[in-house]
Amino acid sequence: MRIILLGAPGAGKGTQANLLSEQLGIPQISTGDLLRSNMKNETPLGKTAKSYMDKGLLVPDEITLSLVRDRLNKDDCKRGFILDGFPRTLQQAKALENELEGTASNLDLVINIDIADEEIIKRLSGRRICSNCGNTYHMDYNPPRENGTCDKCQNTLIQRNDDEESTVIKRLNTYHEQTEPLIEYYQKRNMLTEIDGTKTIEEIGFDLTSVIGKLAMGA
Ligand code: AP5
Repeated sequence: MRIILLGAPGAGKGTQANLLSEQLGIPQISTGDLLRSNMKNETPLGKTAKSYMDKGLLVPDEITLSLVRDRLNKDDCKRGFILDGFPRTLQQAKALENELEGTASNLDLVINIDIADEEIIKRLSGRRICSNCGNTYHMDYNPPRENGTCDKCQNTLIQRNDDEESTVIKRLNTYHEQTEPLIEYYQKRNMLTEIDGTKTIEEIGFDLTSVIGKLAMGA
């Protein structure tokens, strides 16, 4: 199954992509994680990406496209994948279609997790991520078992640089200008399913499983 998760920063794409990846046995491909891994390893690509990410801007398309192309060509994507945070511009959406052999019908599902900007600011100020494996938590809504420590690998939890409120506001502006038009783009192709992102993590997971189940049964 080939799935795209759309949504504003902090809508819950990463949280749900991670759960779906475990459920469906297909990889989660997060362009944000791929870029952060390059930043952590101080690659030239990572240094360029950081200068955009710290300002709440999108990294240039040629960088993200080459990362996604390389990732989609790996063997574990043959059975499907969940794209989390890609595409984010019309140019990326069109490049993805070309990559998947020319037609949008090669994608099974595009899901938009819908949530208001005010809620996003609350979510991102409480988010913590593992400094080692990148697993995501929230201080109130999804806390780790032990304060400040990752449940999966026991490393330290940190706050992302770009989760500072002034950067979050810039990321939201970037989202509304450059990524939100993708909702209409996929709506016009009858590919879009809207999910209410204000529900709990469990309820959204249930809604997603139900949409995917119906698709698998051809409903
Ligand atoms: P990226 O890492 O993709 O960030 P993002 O899209 O801004 O999304 P987030 O990771 O902030 O949020 P999310 O929707 O995954 O929410 P999460 O599940 O963590 O990108 C970072 C930067 O990289 C971009 O700004 C850009 O510069 C660059 N970039 C990336 N992709 C690019 C591309 N394709 N092109 C160009 N540039 C690109 O949840 C958020 C918090 O809320 C967590 O704490 C979580 O525990 C909590 N939470 C989740 N769901 C719920 C819920 N239902 N109820 C309560 N709390 C919840």
